[in-house]
Amino acid sequence: MIKPHSKSTKSKKEQIQSMFNIIAPTYDTINKYMTLNSDKKWRRKVSKIVYEKNAKNILDVATGTGDIAIEMARDNVKIIAIDNANEMLEIAKEKSKYLKTDRIIDFKLDDAEDLKFEDNMFDAVTVGFGVRNFENLEKGLLEMNRVLKPGGQVVILETAVPQTLLSKIGYFLHTNILIPFLGLIIAKNSNAYKYLSKSAKNFPHGNKFKKILHDTGFEDIEIRSETFGVVNIYSGLKQINN
Ligand SMILES: C[S@@+](CC[C@H](N)C(=O)[O-])C[C@H]1O[C@@H](n2cnc3c(N)ncnc32)[C@H](O)[C@@H]1O
Repeated sequence: MIKPHSKSTKSKKEQIQSMFNIIAPTYDTINKYMTLNSDKKWRRKVSKIVYEKNAKNILDVATGTGDIAIEMARDNVKIIAIDNANEMLEIAKEKSKYLKTDRIIDFKLDDAEDLKFEDNMFDAVTVGFGVRNFENLEKGLLEMNRVLKPGGQVVILETAVPQTLLSKIGYFLHTNILIPFLGLIIAKNSNAYKYLSKSAKNFPHGNKFKKILHDTGFEDIEIRSETFGVVNIYSGLKQINN
């Protein structure tokens, strides 16, 4: 299992929670530089996929500083957004203050691998760059499946590894040099960003992740590859007979 501190006896969940609480103040700035501002475009795409199915009741899991939830905010749509790192949520709440009053997002402290919601509650569940940080990936996906209505939609934005030689070279330089460097100079925490690069490289992306989604109760799974294959957007539906 890839953890921020491989030798620490603390669980991955504890380490991840404390890491995001520490890097919260600089998370958005580094994200912007690290993705060359492409993150906005990816989040917009997630929102578009969700609204193609006219979702009215949405859960954003591992919301962090809230950008996907904020992107999805619409009149007459109820969005709940959860994360287990309080400092990330505080920033999300501050940013969402500027939304129109009828586009309120309910930010809550909760564990994605043990959600406090009843079964079959949501039309859509989204998660951006969250699942690879779960201690138990399958458990988190099963929880997302449980709280979705039958036929409800999951949309997951997650890192991938590009396949062409040229983009592989660019990816290597980006993840091994630029990202830890930005982490060091902006967040003063190169270890956190080394972990993010390492976890991205080791995440079972593409068809491997598609199979995991299928095995955790999703069907009609589509993979959209974005920006030379550095991220994928996975969408799928909760199996009706699940
Ligand atoms: C890389 S950030 C992504 C934040 C946001 N979704 C985005 O797109 O920028 C990962 C987030 O996942 C959260 N996270 C990781 N494991 C979690 C868990 N078990 N339960 C809730 N949140 C979790 C972290 O606290 C962090 O805010």
